[in-house]
Amino acid sequence: MVSAHSRGNEPVEDTDRGGAPAFAPDPDGLAHLELILSGAYPFPGFMTREEAEAVTDRGRLPDGRPWPVPVTLEVPGDLAGERRLTLTDPEGAPLAELSVREHWERAGAHHLAGDVTMLRPAMHGVLRELRATPAEVRAQRELDHQVVDRPLLAVFTDRPLHHRALHQVRAEAEALGHGGERAEVLVIVDAPLHDEGVSPAILAAEPLLSPRASFVVVTLPRTGGRACGSIGGVWSERDTALAAHVAAAYGATHMLAETGSRGPEIERVMALRPPLTVLDPEPWRYDSGEALWKPFTHVDPRQAVPELSDADVETELAHGRELPAWFTPARVGAELARLRPARTERGITLLFTGLSGSGKSTIARGVCDGIRRAGRTVSLLDGDLVRRMLSKGLTFSRQDRELNIRRIGYVASEITRHGGVAVCAPIAPYATGREEVRAMVEEFGDFFLVHVATPLRVCESRDRKGLYAKARAGEIPEFTGISDPYEEPTDADLVLDTVDTDPAESVAEVMAALREGGWLPEAEQHVSED
Ligand code: ADX
Repeated sequence: MVSAHSRGNEPVEDTDRGGAPAFAPDPDGLAHLELILSGAYPFPGFMTREEAEAVTDRGRLPDGRPWPVPVTLEVPGDLAGERRLTLTDPEGAPLAELSVREHWERAGAHHLAGDVTMLRPAMHGVLRELRATPAEVRAQRELDHQVVDRPLLAVFTDRPLHHRALHQVRAEAEALGHGGERAEVLVIVDAPLHDEGVSPAILAAEPLLSPRASFVVVTLPRTGGRACGSIGGVWSERDTALAAHVAAAYGATHMLAETGSRGPEIERVMALRPPLTVLDPEPWRYDSGEALWKPFTHVDPRQAVPELSDADVETELAHGRELPAWFTPARVGAELARLRPARTERGITLLFTGLSGSGKSTIARGVCDGIRRAGRTVSLLDGDLVRRMLSKGLTFSRQDRELNIRRIGYVASEITRHGGVAVCAPIAPYATGREEVRAMVEEFGDFFLVHVATPLRVCESRDRKGLYAKARAGEIPEFTGISDPYEEPTDADLVLDTVDTDPAESVAEVMAALREGGWLPEAEQHVSED
């Protein structure tokens, strides 16, 4: 497919689609699809096995052109035999048709290769109106300036541009400019497809770079293990090289990857032969003596203030503190504060997990009382109560337990979305189920896992409900800890030892952690008597 250059990025009538099964690719597949259809990639479809392996092994396509990452489409096994597929967005709206050239397998995963043809322009995804295609951006540039041979500096970023980055961009644009005029800048915002992330804070910098700057939004697949976090992740050289290919398609001649300190060495990126120059900008530092940002060689080391790390920024925002003016422009700081409200206003889900009889419910109830006294509203989703309401009729098979936890996670995520506090106390014996809850909740707010680590022998000796005796006698099948597994969490934010501690002390421990983390005001609010 790579040698053919018939790029199908014009919409075609969908009358001849009849019967092709529909398939919604995963987020990376969708990101690749959008970049293929927009013309940001120099080929019209998903890669064959030979192409994917050549790229993975040598960083080149079989015809020798450098290309950093495999562009592949993984499909479920039951679609492996299809000749045509209708690729859809997550809601099922058709986006493109895939003409299958090859089906290939690797490590048990099925892939389909072939060209794609656009059926309808995409409507899904955040910031849709800012997702201009490379052709649209190039055409606009021609209209505006009648020149496209001048340098264009792309700034590829998934994180807000603070003062340091803005100074670097301006300095590089000046160095590339002609006759005292700065080079044009195109900021390419790498935003997740279905969650705006911090992109509004990136866009907030637009007036600070104008007039010779424009902004466009894309979604790069998370190929190189760029771990997603609330403010971007770590960039590999292959991610950066892919960004460079995309930037070049938009007409850029140079690129600066704003990755904070999370970027690869530029030489390693250039070794992948990207189609433009990836710049390694001079470091800038804040000079506290002169209250100015300057190239670091001009700053007396004793007066140089280290920039806030992404983790520092998160902490400041979590505690509701304004980001310092020397670090970030007010409009960027304000937008970040809106996107990441202080934890006292941010939704949170506490998930208590532990064996039956471990004390989860008792502690969870005490924590709920404490949270209410501290002035926040709270919803308790206790294991037994949920089984009477939301999950009535479900059994204790693995499948039903997972469904039970998924329902709890869904309700908790909705509470979290609205800035509330959800306290859940099911056994939640499987790591996968807990992971799922975490993922659902973290889309909207914070997640805090408490492992009530009472050992089985203690739970069994207490046996308040007499269930362990029945389980031992074989009267209750699949009983957690006896005839069904409990997977101990390795990712708990707090582990409670209830053997030598009474419930009130455990409650106090959780409350202290919530206060320390900033989810509750420091001091308890006392309701006035009069
Ligand atoms: S979970 O596994 O799906 O998270 P959940 O917290 O809803 O469990 O329900 C656990 C409660 O159901 C226990 O506290 C106990 O009272 C009761 N129960 C009944 N049968 C079982 C069983 N087979 N395993 C565990 N708990 C059971």
